Parts: sequence; structure tokens; C-alpha cells
Amino acid sequence: MVPVVVFLFILVTQVSASRVCPKCGKMKVPYPLRTDENCGDPRYKIYCNNGVLEFMSASGFYYKILSINRRANKLVISPPLIKENACYSSDLGLGGLRLDENLPFNISTRNTVMLFNCSNNILLSPLNCSSSSFCRQFEDVGEGYGCKGTLCCHFLKDASMNSYRIRIRLGGCTAYTSVVDKQPNDPIKLWNFGIELQWF
Ligand SMILES: *[C@@H]1O[C@H](CO)[C@@H](O)[C@H](O)[C@H]1NC(C)=O
Ligand SMILES: *[C@@H]1O[C@H](CO)[C@@H](O)[C@H](O)[C@H]1NC(C)=O
Ligand SMILES: *[C@@H]1O[C@H](CO)[C@@H](O)[C@H](O)[C@H]1NC(C)=O
Repeated sequence: MVPVVVFLFILVTQVSASRVCPKCGKMKVPYPLRTDENCGDPRYKIYCNNGVLEFMSASGFYYKILSINRRANKLVISPPLIKENACYSSDLGLGGLRLDENLPFNISTRNTVMLFNCSNNILLSPLNCSSSSFCRQFEDVGEGYGCKGTLCCHFLKDASMNSYRIRIRLGGCTAYTSVVDKQPNDPIKLWNFGIELQWF
């Protein structure tokens, strides 16, 4: 009797354990996220490439996953690099970030998005492009330097906006970044750079 119980116990723990994907590098991959066929849920596919966990957009661009909050069903991806010598995000050729609307991920409402090198016609939309916009602080640091002096804007990615896209294009705005849960008076060194996605 005892061996049977032990056997069943092992079987049950192994089956449930195999549904959670193994760590990728140092990061845990909580259910339902899936890095390979033997674990997770197929609708929540992410990628473990050489020990780096990545999220793939609908256009096939890979964004590094910086953190995962299993309880909140949220993960934060890295904004794409902005080329040092030009104010172009590396996903500019793909129109920025675009999520597949058939998948259970969207962009959360806690992202303050900043757009750079915008053309004047963008001013008509509900963005804050004033000289006091947060985006002006980014121009003086690292990657932002390539965007110095360009027209820039910020906005909160709230529920009134398309939650599957952050759009950039030539002749519109050519670079962007995002800060998660930005508080109004936070100095730039406290900004939590990233794009928060939620799954459902
Ligand atoms: C733009 O954002 C800044 C920084 O939060 C704020 O001080 C300013 O009032 C905003 N301007 C407009 C037009 O909303
Ligand atoms: C994302 O999807 C969830 C679940 O469908 C929904 O409740 C939420 O409002 C969506 N987020 C945005 C920003 O539209
Ligand atoms: C800004 O974008 C335009 C195209 O819209 C491009 O010609 C120009 O080089 C960009 N400026 C910078 C600083 O990259």
C-alpha cells in the first residue's frame, strides 16, 4: 500500500511540475507562460534564447523580459534600444511595438510612454509635448542623447488608447521609451524603464 501511495505522489508532483517551465537563466517562468512544448500553456508563448527570456511581438521583434509578476499577471519588457547616433528605436522599421490581438496579452495602463523626434502634425493628438514634458529629462541621459532637441511628447497609456500598440514611424515619431508606474515628481534616476504587459 505504502509504495503505491508514494508512487502516486511522485507521479502527481511530476505531472504538475512538468507544467511549469524551467528557469531561463536566473528567471523563473511561472505558469501559464511557456518556453517550450512540454510546459506552460500554448497561448502564452515566450522565448528563452541563450538564457535570456524574451517576448516576441506580432511583427517578430524580440523584447527582453526584465521582470515577471506572477500574482498580478504582469511582465515588464525592455523598451527597444534607441540608436546612439540617430533618434531611431530599433523596432522603427516594424512600426514600433505591436502585440497580436488574438493573444491574451495587452499593454497595461501603468506605462508613461515618451515619443521622440516627432513631426509637428502629431501635436494635434492628445499628447503632452510641452517644454515641461517628462520627455525633456530623458534627452540628457545615455540613449536619449541621440534625441536631444527633437520634438518630444509623453502620455499615459490609459484605457482610452489602443492597448496593443505603441506606434512610431518615419514622419511621425521615430523613437520611444516607457516608464512603468511613474510618479509625477520622480527624478529620472528612479524611473523604472520598461513596458508593462498584462496577460489574461
Ligand atoms: C505636461 O506635463 C507636465 C509634467 O507633468 C505638466 O507640468 C504640464 O502641465 C503638462 N502640460 C499639459 C499641457 O498638459
Ligand atoms: C487588457 O485586457 C484586459 C482583459 O481583457 C482588460 O480588462 C483590460 O482593460 C485591457 N487593458 C487595456 C489597457 O485595455
Ligand atoms: C527624425 O526623423 C526624421 C524622419 O522623420 C529623420 O529624417 C531625422 O534624421 C530624425 N532625426 C534624428 C535626430 O534622428
